[in-house]
Amino acid sequence: MDKSTFYITTPIYYPNDKLHIGHAYTTVAADAMARYKRLRGYDVMFLTGTDEHGQKIQNRAREAGKEPLVFLDEIIEWIQNLWRQLDISYDDFIRTTEERHTQVVAKIFERLVDQGDIYLGDYEGWYCTPCESFWTERELRDGKCPECGRDVQYVKEDSYFFRMSKYVDRLLAYYEEHPEFIQPESRKNEMINNFIKPGLLDLCVSRTSFDWGIHVPRSPEHVVYVWLDALTNYITAIGYDSGNPQLEAKFARYWPADVHLVGKEIVRFHTIYWPIILMALGLPLPKKVFGHGWFLMKDGKMSKSKGNVIDPFLLVERYGSDAVRYFLLREVPFGQDGVFTSEGLVERLNYDLANDFGNLIHRSAAMINRFNQGIVANPGDFEVADEELAELAVLTVQNVEQHMDEMQFSLALVNIWKLVRQVNKYIDETAPWALAKAGNQERLETVLYVMAASIRVASVLVAPFMPRAAASIGKQFGFSLVEQTWASLGDFRALHPGGQVATGMPLFPRLDMAVELETLATLGANRQDMKGKEQVGEAGRWGHSHKDTAGAQTASVGEAEKHKGNGSEGGQAVENIENKDQIGIDVFGQVELRVGQVRSAEKVEKTDKLLKLKIDLGTEVRQVVSGIAQYYTPESLVGQKVVVVTNLKPVRLRGVDSNGMILAASQEGMLKVVTVSEEVPNGAVVK
Ligand code: ME8
Ligand code: MG
Repeated sequence: MDKSTFYITTPIYYPNDKLHIGHAYTTVAADAMARYKRLRGYDVMFLTGTDEHGQKIQNRAREAGKEPLVFLDEIIEWIQNLWRQLDISYDDFIRTTEERHTQVVAKIFERLVDQGDIYLGDYEGWYCTPCESFWTERELRDGKCPECGRDVQYVKEDSYFFRMSKYVDRLLAYYEEHPEFIQPESRKNEMINNFIKPGLLDLCVSRTSFDWGIHVPRSPEHVVYVWLDALTNYITAIGYDSGNPQLEAKFARYWPADVHLVGKEIVRFHTIYWPIILMALGLPLPKKVFGHGWFLMKDGKMSKSKGNVIDPFLLVERYGSDAVRYFLLREVPFGQDGVFTSEGLVERLNYDLANDFGNLIHRSAAMINRFNQGIVANPGDFEVADEELAELAVLTVQNVEQHMDEMQFSLALVNIWKLVRQVNKYIDETAPWALAKAGNQERLETVLYVMAASIRVASVLVAPFMPRAAASIGKQFGFSLVEQTWASLGDFRALHPGGQVATGMPLFPRLDMAVELETLATLGANRQDMKGKEQVGEAGRWGHSHKDTAGAQTASVGEAEKHKGNGSEGGQAVENIENKDQIGIDVFGQVELRVGQVRSAEKVEKTDKLLKLKIDLGTEVRQVVSGIAQYYTPESLVGQKVVVVTNLKPVRLRGVDSNGMILAASQEGMLKVVTVSEEVPNGAVVK
């Protein structure tokens, strides 16, 4: 109960469309931080969610011909599923259409009017719907939104205003007294110079020209401006003014937030308007707002016509959650802009994950098995090389702590990989195989122990970034729960000898660059169901002028469709569909396909291709032998929902009964089992 708390948030994203790799970036960063803090013993509250009101959402729902909530529910489900796939461990997901939020926002608005902080007036000026931002004539750039470069609309309507001007001095004083408040530091000066110094205008906080929002109780023709609505999610989600004592205690426990993680284009809302709203409510301000940079594409824009829009789902499907998480946080120093390249991705996965990390785990487990019957050895006296590695491990822990506290994820990972590479070097230099050959058992056992102990440290250090790998290494090396706590990392020798280490499959496969580049290009260009929520990177950078970004967006969708209709264009990796003999639906209907869930998986002895699976089909559990051992570790399949051909004649493979077959897709050396989303019950018919 007395644990220190740590409250971290992501922006609540607009569910006007599916999310992209940029949204995944913020959310993965927040998740790594949340996991790290939990490991450090904090009581963590990690909040994410969706920003569901406003003109943009109303327009999108209308375009889709759906009621807003119907339209939203589908996207929210997609988003939550994406977060599941990416192992996002949020504690709460707030939707601004939920009552726990709308009721409190209405109350807050009324109170601020009563207090005189909000007053009635009328607004005349420009509005950017994609950014949901008001702009003055003077602020426009070439007549376009200064932030995203798109067209703006002229608006003239009755509005409530928030007296921002009243709080400017207090805000500046707060910046002054809390140098940590805005990170990175450069963004603070941007805020002061671009928005505060020119004179902070009162902010328009209600709209009357559409109605998808929270209505102001005293004058329901007004809906609350979507940013005022959205920002308050950070307090409504944890029970502010809820009237429920338990929830209010929660608010008291977690507020003020330790950090709001946001992209740089919305730092303005979080470091000017939000603090002022909180001041008006008499609440303490968040301790930190971290405005990270943007993920851009090589040519500055993410655009479908170039086939370079990256859908995080497809990346996770192909490379796994750990790999995508690692890449996002390793590739770009947090705070700076970075460029997403397919080459960069494949290189990271090949060099850092397959070569350095995966290989270390694989060879170490193999050697411990070969030279010490798979048992964590009892070390003798440490020699200099052993001591040095142990010292490096402890030093790495300290470095990682320091970098994580500064939210420098990439530096934390750089340090962990220094250790990983050093362990590989240690193995090369101590050459356990030579010690074995020379019969130097005592030295051999010490070296094997030092290897395992280093791997233990590395696996805990990577846990915030790659939770699956960490868990699977822990299991493979038989680490106890105590040995996997952060607190245990200070002691290199916390690992107890005697544990059982299993041999395993490589954690990360080596990828063929050429194949991956083709595939990634195809994934980008060929998905017609990915409408492509606008990406900030596409619109260019803050403060730069822009050409026809809105036009480019429309053109690109057309391109993608054309692409699809004409398979020969654009160097796609997928071969033409073979013209096999046509069959009638009756013939197809003879095949019975069902959804099943893998309950257990193990290698078939003395084969390197076959796995024996037990698959739950709802009414029975089947044994199926599948030739996928080179592509999947047995553990990684457990829990997966797969498609099973259930009326295939039973066969015996290498002496093992196989009663059915699972579907998989393959091409050029890659193979992926066809999986089905979690919510489909076992036994459901596929047709
Ligand atoms: O702004 N690179 O929602 P949004 C890095 N609803 N991060 C990116 C990115 C990119 N290319 N693209 C998007 C909103 N992001 C409001 C927020 S909060 C009270 C309301 C991330 O759907 C980044 O975190 O436009 C950015 O700030 C956020 O997504 C914008 O999401
Ligand atoms: Mg945006």
